[in-house]
Amino acid sequence: MKLCMIGTGYVGLVSGVCFSDLGNDVICVDKDIKKIEKLKKGKVPIYEPGLSELVNKNYKNKRLSFSSDLKKSVKESDIIFICVGTPTKKGSSKADLSQIFNVAKEISSSINKFKIIITKSTVPVTTGDEIEKIFLKKNNKKKFSIISNPEFLREGEAIRDFIYPDRIVIGTNDKKSNKILKNLYSPLISKGASYLTTSRRAAELIKYASNAFLATKITFINEIANLCEKTGINIEDISIGMGLDKRIGSRFLRAGPAYGGSCFPKDTKAITSTADKFAINLSVIKSVIKSNKNRSNLLLNKVYEILNKKIKNRKITFLGVTFKANTDDMRDSSSLTMIPALSKKGAIIKYYDPTGFKKEFSKIKNVYNSNSIKQSLEGSDLVIIHTEWNDFKSINFKNLLKGKKCIIYDMRNIYSPKKIIDQGFKYYSIGR
Ligand code: UDX
Repeated sequence: MKLCMIGTGYVGLVSGVCFSDLGNDVICVDKDIKKIEKLKKGKVPIYEPGLSELVNKNYKNKRLSFSSDLKKSVKESDIIFICVGTPTKKGSSKADLSQIFNVAKEISSSINKFKIIITKSTVPVTTGDEIEKIFLKKNNKKKFSIISNPEFLREGEAIRDFIYPDRIVIGTNDKKSNKILKNLYSPLISKGASYLTTSRRAAELIKYASNAFLATKITFINEIANLCEKTGINIEDISIGMGLDKRIGSRFLRAGPAYGGSCFPKDTKAITSTADKFAINLSVIKSVIKSNKNRSNLLLNKVYEILNKKIKNRKITFLGVTFKANTDDMRDSSSLTMIPALSKKGAIIKYYDPTGFKKEFSKIKNVYNSNSIKQSLEGSDLVIIHTEWNDFKSINFKNLLKGKKCIIYDMRNIYSPKKIIDQGFKYYSIGR
């Protein structure tokens, strides 16, 4: 079986590389010729631990190849995975499906033998039906099968999540294709992944419902953390106490800044907008979106409070600016709200991120990139720990701040409050 991944973003590249590592022949296709040329030279366009090594290994052993020729790659393949982006449409909450439909049109005119066409991209329920209509315009229905197989991998953990998924969801009622896919995924099933076959529409909705539920869980614990701060309770006790109930589970109960990234913000909006289309009001998810939007302002107000509302010329350090650790992704990071707002109020901001300089701040007044934790801390009045990279977990603040009285606001609850307070610093964290 030859596989073709269309789109070399997180989902397409990681899945393609991992499938090739499992012994399959894989072509990764992207219309961005420069990106393809770079990949051929072993240069991986995204920051993802372990990805570069796997790309190089499988490219050298010729199981993995790269191409910008979609039609030729489709003709040579048996299973085609659509892995292009479905960002939020400008000026609306809906998913922009233009890339999906453009790619579907191109694939549909390159069908030379039976093909399994799979959407791995996150697409609103009924998108598979639309793709099928596009294919039927040019092909006999016996020549293709349109299947939904959503991907659940997280940035920063993508390879591990691909190899050890909790579940593989296949949305189809085509028995023959289902058998082929079960065989393709058999190395992961034998390692313990559940294999679930559903209707295509159900598979599409499982992805959105899962992301919306996880976003809800985080938002829920963030709001409970607000209550903990007012009542002298440690949010960590609450997360542990709730998580021990198997019906709830302990994961995704870490309070912190507003959630961000390439999926939760866009998918929560898209699912509510799809439901609106069917006259269904997903009021819980709508309220999650609102609460998360307010969260950056809530934490900003806390920063103002910590600095006694004197922001002008105060030196503030951000440790980490991406939406979470182990990624270079800035999409919907809460730092994009907080840093410009603090700059507007006259603060002088230095940031250090293990993934380096961020163009998003280059035009913002008095915002400077530092090349080390040490440099970023020099002269600081307030240190904000914004993401939980391992690099930030054992900083010797006393040495690096050279006796300067500084406040530490740990938005990821990395440190034990006592340890920092004993070193003579004022310390704030989330929900404790
Ligand atoms: C998410 C889903 O987890 C994944 O299944 C889907 O395929 C894509 O979207 P990702 O966006 O890479 O993955 O990151 P994730 O680790 O889920 O974190 C999302 C956001 O939630 C981040 O801002 C993170 O900081 C926040 N988060 C996560 C918390 O605040 N608390 C938690 O307990 C977990």
